[in-house]
Amino acid sequence: MLKEYLWIPELETERLFLRKLTPDDIDDLREWLGLDIVYQYWGRSANKDEKNPEFLFVDPRPHVKRKPSHDFIWGIESKENHRVIGIIEVFDVENDRLGKIAYRINPTCWNQGVCTEALTKVVNFIFSETTLDRLHAEADIENMASNAVLKKCGFTLEGCIRNGKMVNNYCTYNIYGYIRDDFRQRANRQHT
Ligand SMILES: CC(C)(COP(=O)(O)OP(=O)(O)OC[C@H]1O[C@@H](n2cnc3c(N)ncnc32)[C@H](O)[C@@H]1OP(=O)(O)O)[C@@H](O)C(=O)NCCC(=O)NCCS
Repeated sequence: MLKEYLWIPELETERLFLRKLTPDDIDDLREWLGLDIVYQYWGRSANKDEKNPEFLFVDPRPHVKRKPSHDFIWGIESKENHRVIGIIEVFDVENDRLGKIAYRINPTCWNQGVCTEALTKVVNFIFSETTLDRLHAEADIENMASNAVLKKCGFTLEGCIRNGKMVNNYCTYNIYGYIRDDFRQRANRQHT
């Protein structure tokens, strides 16, 4: 089930809307969210909700009062056909200081710059509109696409965990960070 979020602002790029997921998106999500290929480097397999996206919108314990999460999750809607072709999230937000980045795109849309476009916007939003000081990302060294996206979006490669464990998967993975100072420095460079 999706958490209850404090705030999911709508963001827009040239080709995309980033916005809250709704039950109207179930058919779009069903096409790709449960595919094995999406989880090849994810650290775990698709779960029940990802294989059956209708469960994302059903609260199994509706009487439990939950605190809204400070995380962000956006559905990535293509302006061309208004279908949800991806999900991008900032999760494990801690004290409004740190957050981790994750993204998944419908494989039929891979290598068209969708993730780069969405992540660039999310980075911009996080450092312009929130108090987060750091975005953290991890990518299996074999996940060429994810490593490429992070580099293109200006994340700094901070280290490599050899034969480590990413979520539930034993692998060698890179750690990337984007901090508020990086954002300031890039903004200053663009203005000079
Ligand atoms: C990672 C992912 C989100 C990238 O989405 P995308 O929309 O295809 O990304 P983009 O098109 O913006 O960029 C992909 C880049 O990877 C490069 N790339 C893809 N496969 C590659 C490969 N095998 N070798 C080298 N580069 C590769 C592309 O050429 C492109 O770079 P370029 O624009 O410089 O040419 C997508 O592959 C995905 O959903 N993967 C499954 C989920 C996942 O692994 N998420 C990340 C977990 S850390």
